[in-house]
Amino acid sequence: MKPVTNRREFFRKAAVLTGAFSVNSLYQQVFAADLAAKSQLYKDVSPERMAENEDFWAFIQQGYPASSSPVLNLNNGGVSPSPQLVLDAVERYNQMSNQAPSYYMWRILDQGREPLREKLALLAGCDPEELAINRNATEALNTIIYGLDLEKGDEVIGCKQDYPNMMQAWSQREQREGIVYKQISFDFPVEDDESIVDAYRKAISPRTKIIHVTHVINWVGQIMPVKKICQMAHDRGLEVIVDGAHSFGLLDFTIPDLEADYFGTSLHKYLSAPIGTGMLWIKKDKISKVWPLLCNGDPRSADIRKFETLGTRSFPLEQGIGEALNFHNGIGAKRKEERVRYLKNYWAEKALTIPGVKIHTSLKAAYSCAIAGVSVRGLTPQELGQQLLSKYKIHTTSISYGNINCVRVSPHVYTRTADLDRFVLALSRLAPDNGNQNIESKGA
Ligand SMILES: Cc1ncc(COP(=O)(O)O)c(C=O)c1O
Repeated sequence: MKPVTNRREFFRKAAVLTGAFSVNSLYQQVFAADLAAKSQLYKDVSPERMAENEDFWAFIQQGYPASSSPVLNLNNGGVSPSPQLVLDAVERYNQMSNQAPSYYMWRILDQGREPLREKLALLAGCDPEELAINRNATEALNTIIYGLDLEKGDEVIGCKQDYPNMMQAWSQREQREGIVYKQISFDFPVEDDESIVDAYRKAISPRTKIIHVTHVINWVGQIMPVKKICQMAHDRGLEVIVDGAHSFGLLDFTIPDLEADYFGTSLHKYLSAPIGTGMLWIKKDKISKVWPLLCNGDPRSADIRKFETLGTRSFPLEQGIGEALNFHNGIGAKRKEERVRYLKNYWAEKALTIPGVKIHTSLKAAYSCAIAGVSVRGLTPQELGQQLLSKYKIHTTSISYGNINCVRVSPHVYTRTADLDRFVLALSRLAPDNGNQNIESKGA
């Protein structure tokens, strides 16, 4: 073959195979027209009112194979499943990659990285040059935590309700380098931004350099007043790292609007991107001072791509992010946020009426969205979680951590209200007033 034909063939393949944002995307082929028709029907309806529109959401549910799982998955906060078209895209890329892995991955699929960066930036509302694509929130946030220069005695403030992987990373720096990692603690739910900001403010000393804050607290779903914390910190010359694992792809916000300096997230939570995908955002003028976690030829460079020297990893998963973005944008960010909040309130408000059942999360819109904690008097979180699974085939996550003792429940857009009715019925059967069987079973 002549070289010119080769080149044409190369670009033809690249366009077809990395076409998550083109007319060739699976989303365009199998979903876009029907979704557009549905959206047209409800074009004048606000996202808040659309939250209750079962006709629209039934259509979205059909896009997810998880909606017909025999085990009801109410731990979407842990990891979320992908829509079928995302799974199909990954499968297609994977089949192709295994024909000639290094050719298809590095020469074909990798052509999709820059378009993907741009599309992620559109959703994040930031400059694409501020975004690195990686494998999860742990990788993104550990990159920042280990990548910042700090001296012995410099202080970092976090809270006891941050995520363990990040707390451990700070503790490791404390052990190795003698930085000081201070942790404040909250008694959630808190429905008062000022008291939260104040708690961080009071912990600041002349040696404080950084505040580490979790946007949505994973244990009980509390939404933290990140922007106010950032403004308070910046007034004092401090930097803020935001753990957005549970917020990106769920809450309708832009990263720059948080006014943070660093932000890391997984994409396999509420964005429903393939499992094993994440993203790092660094404010443009700070990129050069962060050392990459893994190697790079120019570690002090201001090019965000220095954080993508990850070696061989799954390009099929990475490119699958594109179809997840298509699906998310097709639903609409605000509609999705309102629907998931509606689902949380749908079950939690019913559960609140059951004697012996307690909700551990604020139900006010400003303070929670997808996640709420629940407990049943007479059952430990582990017992409640086990009984929900063994008796009712409902998967949740049990939490006994410090001052938090509950079962965490997190529905997603594919969750049906009928599923939540089944969950509430299970709670009512496990509640103590329903024969006190919990207390009896514990021999109390
Ligand atoms: C608040 C928070 N941060 C970070 C993570 C880590 O996410 P990943 O396991 O995708 O790295 C989680 C995981 O659940 C989380 O809840």
